[in-house]
Amino acid sequence: MTPSAVKSVLVTGGAGYIGSHTVKALALAGYDVCVYDNLLAGHREAVERIARAVPDRRVTLIEGDILDRAWVLSALRESRAEAVFHFAALLSVGESVSDPAKYYGTNVIGGLTVLSAMAEAGVSRFVFSSTAATFGEPLVTAIDESHPQQPVNPYGETKLVIERALRNFDSAFGLRHVVFRYFNAAGADPDGLLGEDHTPEIHLIPRAILAVLTGEPLQIFGDDYATSDGTCIRDFVHVTDLAAAHVAGLRHLEAGQPSASYNLGMGAGVSVRDVVSAVERVTGRPVPHSVEPRRAGDPSRLVATSARARAELAWTPRYGDLDTIVSTALAWHRAHPQGYGSPE
Ligand code: UFG
Repeated sequence: MTPSAVKSVLVTGGAGYIGSHTVKALALAGYDVCVYDNLLAGHREAVERIARAVPDRRVTLIEGDILDRAWVLSALRESRAEAVFHFAALLSVGESVSDPAKYYGTNVIGGLTVLSAMAEAGVSRFVFSSTAATFGEPLVTAIDESHPQQPVNPYGETKLVIERALRNFDSAFGLRHVVFRYFNAAGADPDGLLGEDHTPEIHLIPRAILAVLTGEPLQIFGDDYATSDGTCIRDFVHVTDLAAAHVAGLRHLEAGQPSASYNLGMGAGVSVRDVVSAVERVTGRPVPHSVEPRRAGDPSRLVATSARARAELAWTPRYGDLDTIVSTALAWHRAHPQGYGSPE
């Protein structure tokens, strides 16, 4: 494919956590951004804050659902998008186990709806939010892009269906794509503009921080895994570093490079108990906690190797140190006790 510069992009789920940090990075990199979000989990306030912080770029919001094909098509046309970033999805591993239909509906049918609207609108560049959960139980210590993909939960299955569909859309319509498989996104915008605001909050780092701030104990899901301290091991990567990878992914497509997939993590295995210690170190206070049974669908260990992203995209994470991740998240939660609903 020949190189061609992109001016405008559409970001589904751009009012959400990783989406909003990416919208900010895209606007700062000089792109006009139209966010397409149904605001069920996303926050209008996040998009408004970015629009105010980057006034020389057009940052707009179209409220809509990815299952509404006609509305997606109209958003693509109205925004004159030349590339789509697709973040809109359901993301709870545990909920996907108990309610798979919901996950196949939103993540698979919703994803295919966006792709089919893109084919009709003639938009041929796509950046997809995938996940380490597509790998399942790892067969090696550090997971690279050639690792077999055998998800152990419906969440991972639904993301894998779209990854596979992308190859078919590439053959059929020349849809050039970059797939990013995030390991554990965490942290908050170092400028304090954006942060993590999920209801309910299910992720480990915010829950450990909230345990300190509210006194509500953290539940540790399982301490009988075959790991160093018995708790699960994850690879935490700062959300601002993920956002930077997305800008690099778009540049890869603008340069006419072929479709590619990248694992994004720091390559460091951190246990649940390591996270508790980091939060105690950064806050200077104990994390009240209890040990509970394992959570369904949790692989024991997920650690990336991101050598390909570093080599091909020149991706250089800047905030990956665990204490930096925790301190940016802590600053956000302290300043926003009610998330985006907090008074400024
Ligand atoms: N955990 C707890 N207590 C909690 C929350 C989490 O012990 O209150 C544990 C989990 O059991 C797991 C680890 O902390 O072992 C991390 O859990 P998270 O919910 O923070 O993250 P997951 O690893 O389950 O999932 C995240 C993303 C997924 C993604 C996955 C890939 O939410 O979208 O990382 O690693 F697929």
